[in-house]
Amino acid sequence: MIWIFGYGSLVWRPDFEYAERHRADLGGWSRRFWQASTDHRGVPERPGIVVTLVPDPEAVTVGVVYGLRPEVATPIMGALDYRERGGYSRESVDVTLADGRVVEALVYRGTAENPNYLGPAPLADIAARIRGAVGPSGPNPEYVLKLHQALLEMGAHDPHVAGIAALLGDEL
Ligand code: SIN
Repeated sequence: MIWIFGYGSLVWRPDFEYAERHRADLGGWSRRFWQASTDHRGVPERPGIVVTLVPDPEAVTVGVVYGLRPEVATPIMGALDYRERGGYSRESVDVTLADGRVVEALVYRGTAENPNYLGPAPLADIAARIRGAVGPSGPNPEYVLKLHQALLEMGAHDPHVAGIAALLGDEL
């Protein structure tokens, strides 16, 4: 099985055929709205903001791991490389499933070196940039809401995502 770990839009909109789907925990990384989006939730003249992963020894990021059968993985990975082209690079991480199994999974992460990386900012500033941004994949606040709802449905609490969702409350 080829495993893919999603922590942003891949949690709620995988858009590919998979053989297995599980909640998974990624230790050592925090999910942060620190990545500009000019091709999905914003445009070059008015970028939106999406999530990336930043190193954080104490943190656990809850997401979803998808299992692909190797014989169908190549075109799916090609499509994902294209979808995640806005500054994300593909890396390999170990994630833990609810049954305790640890699997090696591919993940798309916008590193601090990528041109769309924004870095830390107050939540209110992030929310202000998300409000009103819209791109080919839809309004930026919708991305926040879908992610927030999907995490709640999995019983995962992410204070950073919840904080931005709360600030955008009236837009969602
Ligand atoms: C992911 O979902 O794992 C990558 C970031 C995104 O596409 O939102």
